[in-house]
Amino acid sequence: MMFGGGGGWRRHGRLDEEDDINGNIYDKEVVKTLLNMFKPYWKSGVFSLIAMLLYSGTVIAIPWLVGRAIDNHVNNPQNSNLNSMVLLIIIVAAFQFVTNQMQIRVMARVSQNVLYSLRVNLFSHLQKLPMSFFNRNQVGRVMSRIQNDVQQLQEFLSIMLITLGDFVSLVGIMAVMLGMNWKLALVTFSVLPTVVVLLIFWQKKARGAFNQTRRTIAGVNAGLEENISGIRVVQSLNRGNANVKKFRQINNANLDANLKAGQLTSALFPSVEMISAVSLALVILVGGLIALSDPDQITAGYLVAFSLYIYRLFEPVRNLAMQYGSLQRAMIAGRRIMEILAEKPEIIESVNAFELNTFDNNIEYKKVSFGYINNEMVLKDIDLKIQKGQKVAFVGETGAGKTTLVSLLVRLYDPKKGKILLDGHDLREISFESLSSCISMVPQEPFLFSETVNENIRYNRLGINEGKIVEAAKLVGADQFIRDLPDGYKTKIAENGRNLSVGQRQLISFARALASDPKILILDEATANIDTESEMLIQDAIDKLLKQRTSLVIAHRLSTVRNSDWIYVMNAGCVIEQGTHENLLSMKGKYSEMIAYSERGAKGVILYN
Ligand SMILES: Nc1ncnc2c1ncn2[C@@H]1O[C@H](COP(=O)(O)OP(=O)(O)OP(=O)(O)O)[C@@H](O)[C@H]1O
Ligand SMILES: [Mg+2]
Repeated sequence: MMFGGGGGWRRHGRLDEEDDINGNIYDKEVVKTLLNMFKPYWKSGVFSLIAMLLYSGTVIAIPWLVGRAIDNHVNNPQNSNLNSMVLLIIIVAAFQFVTNQMQIRVMARVSQNVLYSLRVNLFSHLQKLPMSFFNRNQVGRVMSRIQNDVQQLQEFLSIMLITLGDFVSLVGIMAVMLGMNWKLALVTFSVLPTVVVLLIFWQKKARGAFNQTRRTIAGVNAGLEENISGIRVVQSLNRGNANVKKFRQINNANLDANLKAGQLTSALFPSVEMISAVSLALVILVGGLIALSDPDQITAGYLVAFSLYIYRLFEPVRNLAMQYGSLQRAMIAGRRIMEILAEKPEIIESVNAFELNTFDNNIEYKKVSFGYINNEMVLKDIDLKIQKGQKVAFVGETGAGKTTLVSLLVRLYDPKKGKILLDGHDLREISFESLSSCISMVPQEPFLFSETVNENIRYNRLGINEGKIVEAAKLVGADQFIRDLPDGYKTKIAENGRNLSVGQRQLISFARALASDPKILILDEATANIDTESEMLIQDAIDKLLKQRTSLVIAHRLSTVRNSDWIYVMNAGCVIEQGTHENLLSMKGKYSEMIAYSERGAKGVILYN
């Protein structure tokens, strides 16, 4: 199957790799969707929210208690309850430890569960999406959505509660400070505008730097992926050194970006620290002066409490700045995930789907038109009727629409116009399950999963036992080579079947089709050149495969074509000739031209061009 690119698909929008983050830190729909996902865990959510509030309470309480201890007990020797005050502080501190643990732990558990179901949702949703979605979007992009964007959300969820806690503490601390002494509080807050300006400035710079790190790491990953998956070509063309040089460049860009981002991060902490030191000095100075002139207004305890608050005050401010980017990224990630979830499956099962248990009569295409891109039809008004038991062949130049025509029969796509009937029932009204057990398709390029040979042949169809698997393998002539594999039928097949020859992969793919014993078999013959011995094996396998079965074969081998009951010659999305081999030859049209041309070729393969 061809997955083309090019313009014209923009209507649905592709998943572009927008690594730049310039979005909002709050996206109503994303937050709503997320909250919905938290619903099943609302009890835990409420629990950790309470823990967070209690924790913030302790953050606010401790400095105040320290201040009280100093004023009431240290500076007041006749009041000898210091020990119990210290004990109280220790108890509150212990409570702080517990509540902090609780909020983080419960939240982590809930968010891991939410992320887990999000991944499962995404995966099962992807399985249902139309082929057109996958034609539009590169596999890498889709994968990056599932992996990176969920990762971003994870990062966000883990800091969400802490950020909220930071915010509560911030407001709480400011309120307590104002309540204790508003003048001194205002003195403390006087440096806040400087901090805010600094943070806004930092944010701007940091956003650029962090965007750059993301962009460059995407480049590094893309470089890695392409070179590793294309390693055979790389080594055979001796491109190794050139690629290392190129990779070094990309990697260098990433190093630079990371160093810059690191510099910025490291600049933030000391700057905020310095400003809080200034604030502290101001408090001691102004507070001290007030205390000297009016000891009743400000006590030593107040000064100590204020000093402690200052550090607690700047910490949330700094954290909020650090988490700003994370929030933005999470909102964008959430939006992207929602985009995928909003993609509609086009091919849907009818509500009262018909169970097609037998196939007795015929397959009928009635004025079927289809196009991948809006109005560019690659099949035009196809009319054909295939009787039960017939062996039908499709021939035609590359791009004529043969693969497309048979893909419609297994509902990889639905026709744009017209309909396809199986025993008089519109395909769209037949249940998925019964349709797929009735028809098997062997694709042009066999795809094997990284599982055992057994599992590859069984392919999740539970009814197929070991006996049937071996029987199918024997019938297509794959049994011998499978037994010669290190673990026989239990040998694990490498990714894309790399540890098998092309012919062997094809035989396994045939066995898979045969094992389910379909009533209708579709075979998209591979054009790949294979050695003469495998060629004979495969030819033999095809004969067995088609025996006593209704079959549609996209034929490239002359022998397959000759053996068919009926031949359709396709050109540019239309059937231009049809008949038996002899009929068609005597017509002296396109078909006889093709045959004459290919007979000059050596291997009995129809060469169209
Ligand atoms: N996934 C796709 N997205 C967009 N266009 C496609 C897609 N698959 C095929 N096409 C286009 O549809 C037309 C028919 O393609 P199809 O794969 O059916 O040809 P074919 O007859 O099977 O060719 P071949 O003999 O090379 O396998 C071609 O013009 C092709 O460019
Ligand atoms: Mg094809």
